[in-house]
Amino acid sequence: QQPRITIIGSLNMDLTATSNKRPAAGETILGERFETFPGGKGANQAVAAARLGADVTMIGMVGKDPFGNELTQVLRREGVETEHIGSADTSSGVAVIQVVDGDNSITVIPGANFQLTPDYIETKRDVIQNSDIVLIQLEIPLETVAAAAKCCKEVNVPYILNPAPAQSLPEEIINQAAYITPNESEAMILFEDINEALKKFPDKLVITKGEEGVVYSGGHVAAFPVSAVDTTGAGDTFNAALGLKLASGSSLSEACSYANAAAALQIGSHGAQAGMPTDAEVIAFMRQNRENHL
Ligand code: RIB
Ligand code: NA
Repeated sequence: QQPRITIIGSLNMDLTATSNKRPAAGETILGERFETFPGGKGANQAVAAARLGADVTMIGMVGKDPFGNELTQVLRREGVETEHIGSADTSSGVAVIQVVDGDNSITVIPGANFQLTPDYIETKRDVIQNSDIVLIQLEIPLETVAAAAKCCKEVNVPYILNPAPAQSLPEEIINQAAYITPNESEAMILFEDINEALKKFPDKLVITKGEEGVVYSGGHVAAFPVSAVDTTGAGDTFNAALGLKLASGSSLSEACSYANAAAALQIGSHGAQAGMPTDAEVIAFMRQNRENHL
């Protein structure tokens, strides 16, 4: 039986420009390529979890436009349950992404994602209750995040909060989370003192540090050395893999190591979802790495 993972979050169409430098304010440059990719932190986490073998349900909102249809179809093709994705009378979420040397900068226009309301979440209580773990990010309204957190708490289902993009959060949302997974810059927005926060939330606060791996109160889990083609979606892959392993009973350090491996494989391809690995690929990659180090 695969873990049942419910994702409550965003779906975006990613409009990605790759160039060899970032234009300064007022500057125009010629870039190398333009592509559209399905994305959104919620949808990315859904695809990553499904590829890794989880039984995934997505709760979200798209616009009544071609992007909305495509984003939903893409998830369906990946085997994600899409019945609980609503549609709103506005444009689907869009992310304008600039990739330079494998690193991305992103502007998100939430559109329909901001029509995902607390009331809508309330109608999905039974879906949430039927999950082993829930993943939540911050590309939906904060009051909806709070409603989702409250619902998880009431039906006694753990949730991982991936606080991206970062904003300061009501303490309750942090306190009720089973895990919270900021990267370093997000952690600095969330907490005044990161070392204090690590002590205050042992076994809950997991900080991702890119090439430097992951830290939490009791440990450090190294990343796998790879060269990045496009890091867009690496954090989403990490969170999905982490959720899958934690829901299957792995220890935090085992889950982080597996999640680091999944993210390492993902950054080798353009776009958020394309390079997301299967469970077999992650296991083979981890084995290969171990052998290289013997
Ligand atoms: O985490 C990556 C995602 O952030 C992209 O797919 C983009 O849609 C933004 O939401
Ligand atoms: Na990528």
